[in-house]
Amino acid sequence: MIRRLAVCAGLAVLLAPIAAPIAAWGADDELEITFNDHCRECHSFLKDDNRLGPSLYGVVGRKAGTLPGYAYSESLKDSGVTWDEPTLDKWIADPNAVISGNQMSPPYGGVADAAIRKKIIAYLKTISPPDGTKSK
Ligand code: HEC
Repeated sequence: MIRRLAVCAGLAVLLAPIAAPIAAWGADDELEITFNDHCRECHSFLKDDNRLGPSLYGVVGRKAGTLPGYAYSESLKDSGVTWDEPTLDKWIADPNAVISGNQMSPPYGGVADAAIRKKIIAYLKTISPPDGTKSK
């Protein structure tokens, strides 16, 4: 019995370092799923991978309408907006409230739920490394 307990304790010690990264991965995964649900249809998170919308890799801190190789609307190019967190939050809720005449909305209708917007922005931060493609 004592021996069995010792084996159990030993296993717990062995598994702890494996369990922690899995829990962290789970949290990241949830953010990515939220992004996929709302944005992936038109946006990639891969660098320079422009689809119907521009790649969102490195978007946090980027000036609007500046990614090379994507045909932005004049509204976005001339907006003078920089994508910081508060601006992204407003944009995800209602793009036209930030830049009217943009080509994302319609058809994109906006996310009214602040908690969901927060997760999407947290995800955008994970794909915006400081040494990435920011064009600030
Ligand atoms: C129906 C397609 C579609 C969906 C869904 C969509 N977008 Fe877009 N997005 C676009 C298009 C098209 C543009 C380019 C707009 C323009 O040039 O006026 C754009 C532009 C952007 C930009 C400006 C990027 C830059 O380089 O200036 C951001 C930021 C953005 N989208 C974030 C999001 C986020 C976050 C989501 C999910 C919550 C999302 N979009 C969902 C189509 C979409």
